[in-house]
This record gives sequence, structure tokens and C-alpha cells, in this order.
Amino acid sequence: SLAMGTTTQEYLDFVLPLVKNAGQELLSVKNVEVEEKGEFYDVVTVYDRKIEQILFKKIKERWPDHKFIGEEESYTKGISQLSNESTWIIDPIDGTANFVRNLKDACISVGLVINKEQVMGVVYNPFMDELYTAIKGQGAYLNGVKIQTNGATDISKSVFNYELSLGVNTKYYDLYMYRLKHLLKHIGGIRSMGSAVMGLCYVATGRMEAYQCDGLFPWDAAAGVLIVREAGGYVRDSNGGEFDLMDPNYIATATKELSDKFMEIERRADQERESDAQNHKQL
Ligand code: IPD
Ligand code: CA
Ligand code: CA
Ligand code: CA
Repeated sequence: SLAMGTTTQEYLDFVLPLVKNAGQELLSVKNVEVEEKGEFYDVVTVYDRKIEQILFKKIKERWPDHKFIGEEESYTKGISQLSNESTWIIDPIDGTANFVRNLKDACISVGLVINKEQVMGVVYNPFMDELYTAIKGQGAYLNGVKIQTNGATDISKSVFNYELSLGVNTKYYDLYMYRLKHLLKHIGGIRSMGSAVMGLCYVATGRMEAYQCDGLFPWDAAAGVLIVREAGGYVRDSNGGEFDLMDPNYIATATKELSDKFMEIERRADQERESDAQNHKQL
């Protein structure tokens, strides 16, 4: 008989109950011990490690040839390069800093990449009981119901979820201050909610018009970026170029038209920052 390849739907069906179970376990967590990984804002719990390990283990048992990239393993072993092999890219908890504060913007994110192409994404937020799924070319879903971005093109009516946490005492501080100074004159509202993956999902559902975060990792993008795109949204590198899964800085918007407007304002801000820095040097 013919050896049939596994379909993307089968991958999704296999991993769904694993992700849901892991999420259910997080719901019953009471007092969680918080560990700092290096920077004070980069926290981890036993649940981050446990969820990543169980997902790796179960998927590996089923497909021993598959490759894996996960946040917690990468922290100790370094990030593996992406090959053409089927690669599961996992963020066991996105928004750990929210999770440890009992804030609901946190989720488990599982993406599947084949031939370097994002083909499947699952995001589960157990605190809101929201399960987001997408298969390349087949749309995006929230709890089984098809979702779409809200189609916004008017920046003055856009709520912008701009993740600023990276600007806390880092090299990004100046960059964010200049961008905010310009953006706040044009946008309709602002949030900074602490989960990059949920931020992407909120654009996909049409709850928010735009999301941006810089300096991310593949596990912050592998599922969520596909979900936004399958919901009709637009994702690009926030510095202007092509989105790079292995080095993600992303802005996700309801439409490309809206993305262009954000880019124009942010580039203006970046130019002002550069010319101020130049002038400062000349003094
Ligand atoms: C973090 C969140 C946060 C973003 C950070 C990420 P984690 O992921 O997505 O919104 O600002 O850069 O590292 O560490 O909670 O998985
Ligand atoms: Ca982390
Ligand atoms: Ca994480
Ligand atoms: Ca993350």
C-alpha cells in the first residue's frame, strides 16, 4: 500500500488535547514560585519547563524524526538552527510574568514549521478558555469559529497594543520614547499587555487593530504569526523588512494599509532619534 504522509490536520488533531491538558493544569496552580533567568523581568516557573518537556516528549514518541525548538531548552542549550525538517516550535507559557501575577494574558503556543514554512499553529489560553488554531491556507479559528481581523485602515481609530517591556532599562529605551512621542499623536488608544502571542491573537480576532513587539524569538512567532495571517491580517518586520521567523521583530495589523501608516510614523520617529543623536555628538 502507499505510505501516506501525515496531513497538517492530523498534526493539529494530535497536539490539541496535549495543549489543552497542559493548559488545564495551569488553572489549578495556586502559589507559584518565581525564578529569574538572568534579567529580573525574565521569569520562569516549574510549569514553563514541565509543559515544554511533556509536549516535546509526546510529540517525539509519535514522530521520532521531528525537530524541536522550545524556549526553556534553548535557554540552556542554545537555539537550534531551523532546517527543512518538520520542526515544532514551542513557547510553553507566553506571558509568564502575567501568569505569576494571576493576570489572564498568558497562553501555550505550539507552531509547526515544515520546509521553513509555518504550516500550523495552536494557541491555548486556559484562563479565558480560548483555543486559537490555524492551518496554512485554511483560515484561523477561535474555539472552532472562524475569525478575521477587523479590516481597520484608520490609524486614528486604532488601538495599538505596543509591547514596551523591552524598553525597561535597555538599549530600546530611547527608541521607544521617540516612537511613542510620534505615535501618540496619531493612534486611537494604547495598551501594553505582556503576552506577544495573545497580542497577535487579539489582532486576529479583530479585538485590536495592531500589535508590535521587538527582539523576540521563534517561539513567540511560530503559531501566532500564522494565526494573524490566516485571519487576513498583515505581519511584517517592525523595522521595515521581511518578517524573519528566527529573528522576529513584528508588527501585526488588521490590514497592510494600516501597517504602512504605522511604518511611516515609526520611521519618522527613528529618523528624529538619529538626527538628535548626531546633533548631540557635534555639540
Ligand atoms: C514574553 C512575552 C512578552 C514580551 C517578551 C517575551 P515569555 O514571553 O511575550 O510580551 O514582551 O519579550 O519574552 O517570556 O513570557 O514567554
Ligand atoms: Ca520567558
Ligand atoms: Ca515563555
Ligand atoms: Ca514568549
